[in-house]
Amino acid sequence: MRQFIRKNIWAAAPVLFVLIAILLMGNPLQAGDVQESQTDKDDNLIVVGVSQVGSESVWRTAHTQSVQDAFTRANGYMLIFDNARQKQANQIKAIRSFISQQVDYIVLSPIEETGWDTVLQEAKDAGIPVILMDRMVSVNDPSLYTAWVGSDFVREGQDAGYWLEDYLKKQGKEQEEVNIVVLKGTKGASATIGRTKGFNQVARLQHNWNILKQADGEFTTAKGKEEMARLLELYDDIDVVVSQNDDMTFGALEAIREAGKTAGVNGDITVISFDAVDAGVELVRNGEINIDVQCNPDQGKYVEQIIQDIQAGKEVEKAYYVPERVYTQENVEEEENVTEGISG
Ligand code: AHR
Repeated sequence: MRQFIRKNIWAAAPVLFVLIAILLMGNPLQAGDVQESQTDKDDNLIVVGVSQVGSESVWRTAHTQSVQDAFTRANGYMLIFDNARQKQANQIKAIRSFISQQVDYIVLSPIEETGWDTVLQEAKDAGIPVILMDRMVSVNDPSLYTAWVGSDFVREGQDAGYWLEDYLKKQGKEQEEVNIVVLKGTKGASATIGRTKGFNQVARLQHNWNILKQADGEFTTAKGKEEMARLLELYDDIDVVVSQNDDMTFGALEAIREAGKTAGVNGDITVISFDAVDAGVELVRNGEINIDVQCNPDQGKYVEQIIQDIQAGKEVEKAYYVPERVYTQENVEEEENVTEGISG
């Protein structure tokens, strides 16, 4: 019997080998692999390679959607979209792949500000214009990118700071010690750098604000919860949490609840958040978040407009700021119905 099995296993070996090879060939896309959203090539289409940071947040999903809505075949584009899954190395790999495919434009949402000089120089040498969106790059030669579309992150941080100053005044607490913790986003990202800088500019002028700790929450719900739980164990007198995006805020709110505390308008801990995704605005409405500073993800259409302008031979600005607003319980109904245009 044993001999029969051994004999038949060897007889089946070639079939097994082929099956394994088929499985390996059919392996789903790995991080950094480039995925074409349109397969048929068409010479009349403008080919755009987009390198996205990842899918770490609700905001990021909306941002990706806005890009996919803008670069459609019906609008005259072939979109090659790459999700870098939070790794700069994957973004660099994607850009190199776009260059070798001779795309017409490269659109980059950079995970962090530094480390782009070499690969952007390669794109420039290949004659491919690079348009940045969302976050910024810090490069020695600004001609390595054509234009940038995104948020004024420093202003967002200042808005949060001014709101807190005003809120404490209204409560007659401008002389009381106020203990603040900060949940920061991805290290080295413009959103983290700008929001931290803007908030600190206001905080520095307040004699009674005490920033107890700034923790890295990486823009995710899981890390936001973990860090907030740790901070609540370290300090039992937290008055304010500044959470640099809604996903971290959702996690922080869970940690606050689990610690037996309350958050928001009538709670123990004042909550300041950023992004203002739908679920965030809903929590502003019900009072669990005091203020949500909007980060507008609807950037695809502006990037597309820039490409149209370049195609038409028009001069484009170096930087375009998307319109953004601030949501609090007092204004949430009226603010939700306002729409605005881009500013250069
Ligand atoms: O760069 C924008 C930030 O990145 C958003 O605030 C955050 O939610 C996202 O992941």
